Amino acid sequence: MKKILITGGAGFIGSHVVRRFVNTYPDYEIVNLDALTYAGNLANLGDIQDKDNYRFVKMDITDAPAISELFEQEDFDAVIHLAAESHVDRSIADPTAFVMTNVIGTVNLLNAARENWKGSYDKKRFYHVSTDEVYGALGEEGMFTETTSYDPHSPYSASKASSDHFVRAYHDTYGMDCVISNCSNNYGSHHFPEKLIPLAINNIKNNKPVPVYGKGENVRDWLWVEDHARAIDVIFHQSKTGDTYNIGGHNEWKNIDLIHLLCEIMDQKLGRAAGESAKLITYVTDRAGHDLRYAIDSSKLQKQLDWVPSLQFEEGLAKTVDWYLQNEEWLNNVTSGNYQSYYQKQYENK
Ligand code: NAD
Ligand code: TYD
Repeated sequence: MKKILITGGAGFIGSHVVRRFVNTYPDYEIVNLDALTYAGNLANLGDIQDKDNYRFVKMDITDAPAISELFEQEDFDAVIHLAAESHVDRSIADPTAFVMTNVIGTVNLLNAARENWKGSYDKKRFYHVSTDEVYGALGEEGMFTETTSYDPHSPYSASKASSDHFVRAYHDTYGMDCVISNCSNNYGSHHFPEKLIPLAINNIKNNKPVPVYGKGENVRDWLWVEDHARAIDVIFHQSKTGDTYNIGGHNEWKNIDLIHLLCEIMDQKLGRAAGESAKLITYVTDRAGHDLRYAIDSSKLQKQLDWVPSLQFEEGLAKTVDWYLQNEEWLNNVTSGNYQSYYQKQYENK
């Protein structure tokens, strides 16, 4: 029996982690804490919301007294922390929101855990979910390993780097059992359509321009979101205290090549003539401080904990497109209202 607090469980990756833990461990009690920002959506968890071992708590991790009270009321055995502001473009427009949630929010959780777990750190675990973007950008060669120096460039990655440092500091200073994983770009179902893949799917579907930043030559290493959730499960249960793991798909794609592949898949799925969706590709002004290339060396995780990605990218991307085409209502709901004003602001002058 374990009572686990999962933060950010109504978001993209968090909902896959919550689903996996609720379904795989019926004897665990899973408490999903989420503020339900624009990125949080309880419809992501409709299939497990009535399970006996699942509960939802609407709370903001920047609210220190509320977080502290929750930890006093509930005797959590562990935290898996995913709640974050997660979109680089939004961090460029409003860095402070990223400091508040990603840095202060993480420290609030660490403080509440420290206060309530004192004397029993050996039986508790704080798992912090982070990103490969903390390592900065690569040139044409090389990969990020767990010992690569931190060199974040965007306000998003700077805030995640800061939160990683705080988690390590609480392990080193107070002896809390903390674990961190740094993962590459995820893709899959329930992904909010501000990020490249779901935004492109939505635009292709609606015959709207597909914005490609700069020359489309930036490289990302894409991982199926359910493989990330499985890695979190394995690391949570098997890693040593204070350890760090990189998680990645060994699956590097230039943005423009990825978009062409997506256009081909969409042509097939929508019954369009070959090459039709690609006509929507539109080169726009580059992102400020745009990291050229990310690539993750996940050999430590593969060798020590026997984790390997399960899906080939082409197969995963086709499955992802199917999900978006079959879940039109989900897509329409999340792209109505505030999404339209975000989209206009982000793309109108590009
Ligand atoms: P997301 O934006 O889809 O979801 C974030 C969730 O956190 C949302 O449900 C939101 O409501 C919640 N949240 C935001 N601010 C909050 C606050 N102040 N209090 C409580 N809840 C709050 O993000 P995601 O893509 O699912 O990313 C989840 C985690 O994984 C993040 O920590 C992110 O840095 C990390 N990560 C993401 C990727 C990726 O490719 N998306 C890759 C590596 C690591
Ligand atoms: P994104 O999905 O925002 O993830 P991240 O910046 O965290 O890697 O972007 C992935 C890549 O796609 C990145 O190089 C920026 C690029 N991109 C575009 O070319 N057009 C877009 O409209 C978006 C959102 C991203």
